[in-house]
Amino acid sequence: MNITSSSFDMLVLRPLEALKSQQAFENVPILRSLESRYFLSAPFFGLVVFISYLTWLSSASTPVVKGPVAGYRSFWEPTFLLRLRFVFNAVGIMNDGYYKFKNSSYVVRRMDTDVTVLALKYLDELRKSGLDELNATHANIHNVLGGYTNLNEMKFNDHFIKAISHCLNPNINEFMKYMQDELSFSFKVDIPDFEGHEWKSIDIHSLLKRIISRVASRIMLGLPYCRDETIISITESHTICIFGVTLILRRFPPILHPLVALLIPHRWRIWRNIREMKKITQTILDEHSAAKASGDTSHKSTEPKTLLKWMIDNAKPHQKSLHSLVSTQLAVTVAAVYTSSQVTSHLLVFLAQNPRYIAEIRKEIADSTNDIENIDPSKLHKMEACLSETLRLNPPQTNAPQRRAMQDITLKDGVVIPKGALVAFPCTPCSMDSSIYPDPQQFIPFRKENISVPVTTPTRNQLAFGWGSQACPGRFLAAKEIKVVAARLLMEYDMEIAPEADKMRRYYDIEDLRVLNPSMRLRMRRRVLEA
Ligand code: HEM
Ligand SMILES: *[C@@H]1O[C@H](CO)[C@@H](O)[C@H](O)[C@H]1NC(C)=O
Ligand SMILES: *[C@@H]1O[C@H](CO)[C@@H](O)[C@H](O)[C@H]1NC(C)=O
Ligand SMILES: *[C@@H]1O[C@H](CO)[C@@H](O)[C@H](O)[C@H]1NC(C)=O
Repeated sequence: MNITSSSFDMLVLRPLEALKSQQAFENVPILRSLESRYFLSAPFFGLVVFISYLTWLSSASTPVVKGPVAGYRSFWEPTFLLRLRFVFNAVGIMNDGYYKFKNSSYVVRRMDTDVTVLALKYLDELRKSGLDELNATHANIHNVLGGYTNLNEMKFNDHFIKAISHCLNPNINEFMKYMQDELSFSFKVDIPDFEGHEWKSIDIHSLLKRIISRVASRIMLGLPYCRDETIISITESHTICIFGVTLILRRFPPILHPLVALLIPHRWRIWRNIREMKKITQTILDEHSAAKASGDTSHKSTEPKTLLKWMIDNAKPHQKSLHSLVSTQLAVTVAAVYTSSQVTSHLLVFLAQNPRYIAEIRKEIADSTNDIENIDPSKLHKMEACLSETLRLNPPQTNAPQRRAMQDITLKDGVVIPKGALVAFPCTPCSMDSSIYPDPQQFIPFRKENISVPVTTPTRNQLAFGWGSQACPGRFLAAKEIKVVAARLLMEYDMEIAPEADKMRRYYDIEDLRVLNPSMRLRMRRRVLEA
């Protein structure tokens, strides 16, 4: 707080004082003739700020691929209005471009930048040649204003992706065992007590965020650290804080970011999270090296495998600092927790609204195992179809995947993507296209039941996990995790949509993020199993 108010003082109040003093104007006749008192009066100042703001919003200084701009309601609509409308109607604007300019690329205007939505035909080219100059990490860093959210670290710490693809994915069955163990613990402590057979209203997303934070911490840090309340609360809150900073800063021109950033409470929390995480990580590092020094490689106190251990042992020298390790952990958390908890919540809300499908899914689970603490997600085909349908209707990011051009790129047909351009693909318009998915608005959980492509394999019509070599490295874990968590909740609890929630909006779109309505509630009760 001290820092903030004194910086405010230095950056804003003092220069204003200086300006206000008559001296500044005395030698300039024109200015002297303007009464400085009026010149600096609040309405005039306000007008100047307002006009500068609109000018900033109307300018299009970011590089884009040549193409039409989507979403203008008429020839007369000013650009600043189009940008403002994108905040709450991004999908509407992307749909406009998708249907109007079918098979060619178009531009959408976000408040902070223009984004080129590439035609789907370019997907093949992206996969075949790899096109590494179109970089997913740099697109993310740009989107979350890495400099203000500590995510610039992702530029130097590419092991946050390697930890997943070299440690987590090859050992996924082992990690699934830890996960199921952590779930048993979480169900005991995080789900409210149900006396007998009563119904309770449950904030489903908060519950799932907590459950999935525990699982993520277990995989990252292992026992016993993952049970630390501070860790869980960091894991739960970090992504929200990053969204907070991002969504506020995008409303302001970059020149004001350093100032505005100081005033955003979410940002204070990001830095607190980093400090707390460092303390705990230091403890783990000390124990890790003590265990190594004493030749005790069995690590009795902790899990044999964790992502953090892998990073400690495999990071390059410049990635081994405490700050690097903590930033990397938090980058994985940001990618993993919010996405999975949102998708699981959507899935359960859909099923609660369509209870006739629950029986079928329960039968599939019961047929696959009689040990609910040891589910094999690869046997749950109906559940997988249901997950795929949920991702089709409600992907966490509606214009995934996104890439940033690290240099000028010429595609095979001659189209040029200029250096610095942010490009995206029309994930949502395409998955809601009735020529691809009949009756697209309808939740048809088993729509893809007989399609042999797994949900983790991106296709032209299913881009929620991204595309090509840079697609989400955590998708194999995510799919298994969501299936197992949903399966256990469905086997142990009855669920129905709370009456007040049934008519509610299911989600809000804020720019390209799709967020479940935070007021969404499910009614749950403990199941009574017939003997
Ligand atoms: C339903 C859950 C999830 C969804 C929908 C999702 C979606 C995505 C998408 C669309 C991308 C960008 C891919 C591209 O540009 O082609 C991505 C990247 C990524 N995801 Fe996921 N993801 C999910 C869960 C997870 C989980 C559980 C983890 C971690 C274990 C994870 C880790 C990552 C990482 C590390 C990246 C790379 C970011 C970068 O390149 O900078 N994700 N994810
Ligand atoms: C778009 O491209 C696809 C495949 O190249 C083609 O089948 C389709 O007819 C095209 N649509 C339009 C509107 O040009
Ligand atoms: C994207 O950029 C990051 C950070 O500079 C780098 O580590 C990564 O290898 C790049 N990705 C590709 C596919 O080139
Ligand atoms: C999938 O195949 C089974 C068995 O042939 C059939 O009963 C079911 O209706 C099919 N599902 C869909 C969505 O087509």
